[in-house]
Amino acid sequence: MINLPSLDSEDLSDKKVFLRYDCDVRVSASGKIIDETRLITGFSTLEYLLENNCTVIIAGHLRRPEGWDEKFTLFPIAEWFAQQFSSEAKETKLGEFKGWEIKDGLFLLENLRFYKEEKENSLEFARRLAGLGEIYVNEAFGSSHRAHASIVVIPKILPHFAGFHFIKEVKVLESIISSPKRPLTIILGGAKMETKLPLVAKMHGIADHILIGGKITDIDRELIEKEKVKSEKAKIIIAELTQEGRDIDSASLKEFENIISRSGMIVWNGPMGYLEGGFEESTLSIARAIIGSNAYRIAGGGDTVAFINKYGLFDKFDFVSMGGGSMLEFLSGKSLPGIIALQN
Ligand code: 3PG
Repeated sequence: MINLPSLDSEDLSDKKVFLRYDCDVRVSASGKIIDETRLITGFSTLEYLLENNCTVIIAGHLRRPEGWDEKFTLFPIAEWFAQQFSSEAKETKLGEFKGWEIKDGLFLLENLRFYKEEKENSLEFARRLAGLGEIYVNEAFGSSHRAHASIVVIPKILPHFAGFHFIKEVKVLESIISSPKRPLTIILGGAKMETKLPLVAKMHGIADHILIGGKITDIDRELIEKEKVKSEKAKIIIAELTQEGRDIDSASLKEFENIISRSGMIVWNGPMGYLEGGFEESTLSIARAIIGSNAYRIAGGGDTVAFINKYGLFDKFDFVSMGGGSMLEFLSGKSLPGIIALQN
């Protein structure tokens, strides 16, 4: 079992806290936040720190900018936080770093990925950031598969803790592997199937069913077929696609729905069809089948979370992971750098 240092295990009153947050949300070109789920999820940790009279410096990233690029400024996120506290975000400096004062004792730093040292995992950069606080808290599970300065180096410098949601993520995802409710069904979709193959490989011996939809190329099919042959336990089913190849076909959908209805635990990551092109039908049917089942229901991944939010289904899931890549890597059995950093 993974043990992480929890915030409430120590008296943090009046401390200056560097809070690594999941700020990588969907923002429109006009700066409107399209899906605020990640921001909301970390909020209980933020509130706890503020209630304990801490000064909080929130830090995070947005997308993958190459250098300083205003397209990816965290200003919309600063405005979002300000709105939560009925205040106004005011530009400020924290040491040498640009940021915003959200309200008394609460600050947000500009996109950490504007500094190449973040991805380069620079010790010197981490030291400068660490200088802003006395305590480090990681509430960015969604970024904890990245060995970046704010994820793995600052906790080497400052006393460190995991945020409340971070701890819940690890607990729930761990339980899928160690004590799943059966039958356990894993549903994978979306693009980049190659990133999901390690999970298929790991789940051979754990899951009862692995259902695969989404963008399946001939190469994917071939690779998954190879996994199928090796499978020790799980029955792996690859969907057939409709004629235009943008969604799974009705026979596959029916088969998936059938398995879902008999499952004890369901883990869903990735849409079945090409959502951007409007091919939502089977993804919605799968979502409805999951919430109509008696299973323990877990969803994760950016597109999946945005989709269930769009249809107001978020609360119908027992747990929604804030991890995309990090959820997949964790379930694939990899050790996440962000978790290791908090344990040491
Ligand atoms: C995510 O959304 O998975 C995280 O924010 C990590 O983003 P990255 O894949 O750009 O590192």
